[in-house]
Amino acid sequence: MRKKLVAGNWKMNKTADEGLALVSEVVNMVNAEVTAPVTVVLCPPALYLTTIKPYLTGSKLALGAQNCHEKAAGAYTGEISAPMLKSVGVEYVILGHSERRQYFGETNAQLAEKVNIALENGLTPIFCCGESQEMRENGDYVGFVKGQLTDSLFHLSAEQMANIVIAYEPIWAIGTGLTASSAQAQDMHYELRQHLAGKYGDGVAQNTSILYGGSANAQNAAELFSQPDVDGGLIGGASLKSRDFLTVVKAA
Ligand code: 13P
Repeated sequence: MRKKLVAGNWKMNKTADEGLALVSEVVNMVNAEVTAPVTVVLCPPALYLTTIKPYLTGSKLALGAQNCHEKAAGAYTGEISAPMLKSVGVEYVILGHSERRQYFGETNAQLAEKVNIALENGLTPIFCCGESQEMRENGDYVGFVKGQLTDSLFHLSAEQMANIVIAYEPIWAIGTGLTASSAQAQDMHYELRQHLAGKYGDGVAQNTSILYGGSANAQNAAELFSQPDVDGGLIGGASLKSRDFLTVVKAA
């Protein structure tokens, strides 16, 4: 059985005090109210990873980063490497978020390198993919998203692929309030799982968690997560409010 997983991507939000207050609330709520076997990952800004880590120790939550560099170390001012993340107790790393592709020019080839170094350092990549509005209206958007997987993941062995979480995040749904319908999400997740099966076989495909992201919230999460190929969510805005985030976690 593949894992149910809900990850909160705080993006560039919260001061240090606000972040710690949010973490305390979320940890208390999850420990008190969540009994189902769902993995909950918090991905705060990198600056807070070390201060937040002790709050998660002994809880049901895991720590994730929002990005890492593709090299292990070196003269890359301002960057953070996978070994650094590992050394402070990070377990997951979001890679290839559409905001990083769009604003920081991340390419599929570069993301393949990031995936490699994350895996080499024992981090679980949450690999993001998704099409733009224009692509959905005018293009082969299913082929485009499958291509993102092909280009950044399909060099991996089946054994490595077993350590990848995929997040389908249609760009037109991110931060817009325009959620994909549960049928739209299910259709794409099914296609991606078929794509994985074509390369790695049914066993790997059936065991890979595929999350949905894009305006998922306390109101729509249960419907989205009820779809057979939707294994949880990558949550932006709704992860910044403890009660909303908890409702999403419970929906998984
Ligand atoms: P929103 O939930 O704010 O739409 O963001 C989704 C997202 O980009 C999570 O990574």
